Amino acid sequence: MEIIDFLIKGLKRLEYRGYDSAGIALDAADGVDISIVKKSGKVAALEEEIQSRLKELNVDESSSTHVGIAHTRWATHGAPSEVNSHPQRSDVDQTFCVVHNGIVTNYKELKAFLTQKGYKFESETDTEVIAKLVHHIHTQHPGYSFRELVEQVVQQLEGAFALCFKSKLYPGECVATRRGSPLLVGIKTKTRLATDHIPILYGKEEHGLPDHRPHGRSEPLPMLPRNDSTSEFQPLEDKQVEYFFASDASAVIEHTNRVIFLEDDDVAAVKDGSLSIHRLRRSLDDPHGREITILKLEIQQIMKGNYSYFMQKEIFEQPESVVNTMRGRINFETKSVVLGGIKDYIPEIRRCRRLMLIGCGTSYHSAVATRQLLEELTELPVMVELASDFLDRNTPVFRDDVCFFISQSGETADSLMALRYCKARGALIVGVTNTVGSSISRESHCGIHINAGPEIGVASTKAYTSQFISLVMFALVMCEDRISLQVRRNEIIKGLEMIDEQIREVLQMDSTVQQLAKEMYEQKSMLLMGRGYNYATCMEGALKIKELTYMHSEGIMAGELKHGPLALVDNAMPVIMILTRDPVYVKCMNALLQVIARDGRPIVICEKGEKKLKPSLQRHS
Ligand code: BG6
Repeated sequence: MEIIDFLIKGLKRLEYRGYDSAGIALDAADGVDISIVKKSGKVAALEEEIQSRLKELNVDESSSTHVGIAHTRWATHGAPSEVNSHPQRSDVDQTFCVVHNGIVTNYKELKAFLTQKGYKFESETDTEVIAKLVHHIHTQHPGYSFRELVEQVVQQLEGAFALCFKSKLYPGECVATRRGSPLLVGIKTKTRLATDHIPILYGKEEHGLPDHRPHGRSEPLPMLPRNDSTSEFQPLEDKQVEYFFASDASAVIEHTNRVIFLEDDDVAAVKDGSLSIHRLRRSLDDPHGREITILKLEIQQIMKGNYSYFMQKEIFEQPESVVNTMRGRINFETKSVVLGGIKDYIPEIRRCRRLMLIGCGTSYHSAVATRQLLEELTELPVMVELASDFLDRNTPVFRDDVCFFISQSGETADSLMALRYCKARGALIVGVTNTVGSSISRESHCGIHINAGPEIGVASTKAYTSQFISLVMFALVMCEDRISLQVRRNEIIKGLEMIDEQIREVLQMDSTVQQLAKEMYEQKSMLLMGRGYNYATCMEGALKIKELTYMHSEGIMAGELKHGPLALVDNAMPVIMILTRDPVYVKCMNALLQVIARDGRPIVICEKGEKKLKPSLQRHS
């Protein structure tokens, strides 16, 4: 029972990240079979299910070795449901089971390959291909060790993953690996550890491994060279040791503070109480071992990292979340952009009468932010609509309209009602959501999953940047054949390639921004001004200020300044102005001068190295 307790507690420690279903795989009493329990909804529901099926699960309490794997899933491929939950299995006998964090971007090719080999898929997940692939490789090479099988599997995968495998063919063993998603190993022994690092073992062939990916072909997967491990971590004397693989330290910290953070392409295997870490290729800058780190943090700290709030954490996750949005979609070398969820509908979209972008709050702002670029690159009329107002007006919608519904949650009532309204009128419905399996994603004809990861903070942050990038990617797809737009298209792709670094740089200014915010806080009101591409940022900024500080704030289109809002400006009114080197730069400069003429003391958000601003204005740039 201890293993169930450990796994469930581990899942509970990770609940804060958001998820929609959970599952567990355990050794049955015969020491061979594997029992899997999965459940939609909360970990507590999974726990209840396990309790109600304890007899049937038949966990052997007398055995000294237990291996179990567990997972909470945030749906990315297929709706939240038991069958889509992890662990995913290779076959009905549950020969191999796997849990997976991340996204396998070439799963369709692998699925086609395995289907040709006779595998029947039961879920809609990308993860199921991994379980079936390991089984397939095992049938081809029954002599391979568990670790070697996993090494062969990961050579075929593209995308991001942290994986943990269990197999009835290898009782008492567990193999885990990562690429792009975090994974650590916790080690718990009664005695002190004899070493503070684990040596890495390498494959024999180190150069020029060919690309073995099947790309939908039916020939057998070529195999990579095998080699045998020679050294590994072993516990001292009594061999009493527990290993914990986890995506986050919070899941293991109550058991041990001694952890190894695995690197991309490490394959870690536990067998006979020993842990080995293996890599197929040696790279020049790779250290010879993995350090055992002693964690000093408390559980509470680890859950939110060093952040005070989830919203703050999500803001700082943006350098990674924007990359996840583009992963497997933009090839920066070939400048190709593929959005799998709408690919088949692109010809129909190209023929449409107009694009309508509909959402609420932040999601609406992402539509405003991308409208200009969409008009430029699609050469179609683009309407942006607040879902509530759109419904109030009984807006005319036609069969040849394409309606985008943008929503982080995919559940916002006004957006959902507007979707049904448009669908009933025959328009093509495109969902742009962060939640697969949500009402909007289910009721759309096709869609783009923004893949920002769970957003727990109610005020949307990282979803905004990912919505923005998703819509830009759509625009890039639409203009891929327009010769006249290629220079512009390539310029945008180049910009996207740098965006994570730029976000990182801006986030480093956190304390400067905080200082400015303190100065402005507790004022009655605040204005944010900009135009062109930056107008949406002003509206979104004003919304965030309202929602989080309860202070009045207004996003103002700088072009409208002289038509009223200028009356609000004086030396007491806090004003933030956005000024970037874009087609409306000169016009924005004029607006800035008008504000100064009214005694305003604006804070200007501008590009690095901006020289035209007078030194007296450069409080912050
Ligand atoms: C509001 C949130 O309630 O809903 C906003 O406070 C959010 O942050 C808006 O943008 C729309 O939500 P969704 O899930 O449709 O993007």
